[in-house]
Amino acid sequence: MLRQQRQFAADASHELRTPIAAVRVELEAALLHPGDAREALDGALGALGRLEAIAADLLLLADIGSVPRAAEDEVDLGRLVADELRCRSGRRRILIHQDEDVTVEGSRPLLSRLVTSLLDNAERHAATTVDVEVRRDGERALLSVGNDGEPVPAEDRERIFDLFSRRDAARSRCDGGPGLGLAIVRQVVEAHGGDIHVRDGDPGVRFVVRLPLVSSIPTTLVGAGAVRPLAGRPEPLTGPVRGSSCSVRCGV
Ligand SMILES: Nc1ncnc2c1ncn2[C@@H]1O[C@H](COP(=O)(O)OP(=O)(O)OP(=O)(O)O)[C@@H](O)[C@H]1O
Ligand SMILES: [Mg+2]
Repeated sequence: MLRQQRQFAADASHELRTPIAAVRVELEAALLHPGDAREALDGALGALGRLEAIAADLLLLADIGSVPRAAEDEVDLGRLVADELRCRSGRRRILIHQDEDVTVEGSRPLLSRLVTSLLDNAERHAATTVDVEVRRDGERALLSVGNDGEPVPAEDRERIFDLFSRRDAARSRCDGGPGLGLAIVRQVVEAHGGDIHVRDGDPGVRFVVRLPLVSSIPTTLVGAGAVRPLAGRPEPLTGPVRGSSCSVRCGV
């Protein structure tokens, strides 16, 4: 526990120091060159935005699962994904395949964040195409997000869910996020009684989330703080994630 706490403190301060330093540099530049102050202040605001995003993610991580949530929503996963895709810029071609009425119970904002984080990652790492599936799989809803970029090697498939974990260490600290997205995704999934796996894509990589469908959730609440009672741990994933029904093409 102590070691984990130390690691967390070290990682968090490292991530926070970068945008703080950027704010300082920009403000100093504005003082030195008042004529260019506008540009420097824009830079400072951008760095402040990154700082705010990290603080908000850390707060969210502390909150997920720790506060009993009385009001729960019935969330149509297919609609949630479609709403999210509508707001995207279309940087990548996005394919979506979905069954009708794939409904889970839980927190709409948290499930929305889950979808956003997986899509952000997939778009960032895709070579050309992101592929999203929303399916019914027995008593489970299945949301899978794949992209055709570099695969994630088997030895990294667990640690990418750690706080502040980023595989592409060479990437500039200004590019991409602090490495909190998948940690949040996993906590959201687990708080909803589900699980998440990383698989080989075809090509690339695929993140597969399974959540209990509304009809399969037992009514007894287990443990304070769970968004939903934890359903029995699902069997390991086997077989391809495929199905029929509708396929919609979004973005370019
Ligand atoms: N679809 C993907 N393809 C390849 N690698 C991925 C993919 N998604 C995540 N990763 C790897 O896992 C790491 C952790 O992902 P995570 O979403 O937690 O952090 P991030 O995207 O770097 O930052 P943040 O999500 O906080 O903005 C990434 O830095 C990347 O190396
Ligand atoms: Mg991310």
